[in-house]
Amino acid sequence: MNRFWFFSFLILLVVGILTGILLTRIQVFSAPEQPIAYSHKTHIEAGIQCLYCHSSPLRSDLAGIPSVKKCMGCHNVIANDKPEVQELAGYWEREEPIPWVRVSSQPEFIYFSHLPHLGTGLSCETCHGDIGQMTVTRPVVKMDMGWCLDCHLKEPQPKATRLADCLACHK
Ligand code: HEC
Ligand code: HEC
Ligand code: HEC
Ligand code: HEC
Ligand code: HEC
Repeated sequence: MNRFWFFSFLILLVVGILTGILLTRIQVFSAPEQPIAYSHKTHIEAGIQCLYCHSSPLRSDLAGIPSVKKCMGCHNVIANDKPEVQELAGYWEREEPIPWVRVSSQPEFIYFSHLPHLGTGLSCETCHGDIGQMTVTRPVVKMDMGWCLDCHLKEPQPKATRLADCLACHK
């Protein structure tokens, strides 16, 4: 009898741990609920360039999310009979920014800039996945320290050492 309880406990424990791992993975890679059903796929298929909307990664630390004004430059006329676009127009009329939920953000204590990365010829897809195919934006990698270091350590020396210095990424 004792043995029975012991094994039952063991099985429950293993199932519990596996569920925990699964749930964290689902959480990490799930798409957050957004205030407007914005689809990258629709816009990329319409021929719009990433940098038309995310215009600052080459100039500043942030890639930036486009303003309502930028959206309305097209949606004053394009698809303005669609409910989601009317909701967009509502933000414009109320002069409110759209509270987009961040998909890939770093903690406060991390320094990340797109500038050096794009300068070495990395493409957006290397880090963000095939955004152009996504109807809902979601993360494709866990952007943790291991991920950053993995790539940095592949650089030739002495650059790899410089890029693995704690103070390169930690403020
Ligand atoms: C080396 C990996 C890498 C590459 C290449 C990259 N990104 Fe990013 N991107 C990140 C990381 C990491 C963040 C989160 C930054 C933060 O929160 O400080 C981010 C954040 C963003 C954001 C959110 C807003 C912001 O500025 O934080 C947008 C939009 C974005 N990237 C677009 C792009 C586009 C467009 C390209 C290609 C031109 C690109 N990224 C290339 C890693 C990358
Ligand atoms: C350069 C022009 C352009 C810009 C800028 C633009 N869009 Fe669009 N958008 C389009 C086109 C083209 C379509 C496809 C219209 C269609 O299928 O009839 C579209 C479709 C949409 C739809 C789907 C409408 C539907 O229900 O079928 C939504 C929602 C939308 N855009 C939101 C946005 C948001 C939010 C922004 C700003 C971040 C934005 N758009 C910026 C051109 C643009
Ligand atoms: C028509 C404007 C538009 C175009 C073109 C566009 N984006 Fe975006 N992008 C947005 C908007 C709006 C958001 C915020 C809503 C969301 O996350 O879906 C966003 C969010 C993102 C994010 C998530 C940022 C974060 O951390 O929250 C990434 C990464 C990104 N875009 C990359 C790209 C790449 C790569 C391309 C080109 C393949 C591209 N975008 C083209 C409007 C655009
Ligand atoms: C796919 C590869 C790749 C990934 C992923 C990546 N990096 Fe980089 N990063 C590079 C390369 C290559 C350089 C060097 C650019 C150069 O030659 O100046 C660099 C440079 C930097 C620099 C400038 C350091 C300096 O002294 O010049 C910082 C800061 C940085 N990365 C932070 C990060 C952080 C934080 C992450 C994770 C959130 C990250 N990187 C993810 C490839 C990557
Ligand atoms: C290439 C960029 C990079 C380098 C180099 C780097 N880190 Fe990190 N580190 C990160 C990122 C991104 C995070 C946040 C994500 C995470 O927790 O994995 C982080 C998180 C951490 C955390 C967890 C902090 C918390 O409160 O969650 C510790 C501790 C840490 N780093 C220590 C170090 C030390 C010590 C070094 C030098 C030996 C170092 N890191 C070098 C990118 C880097």
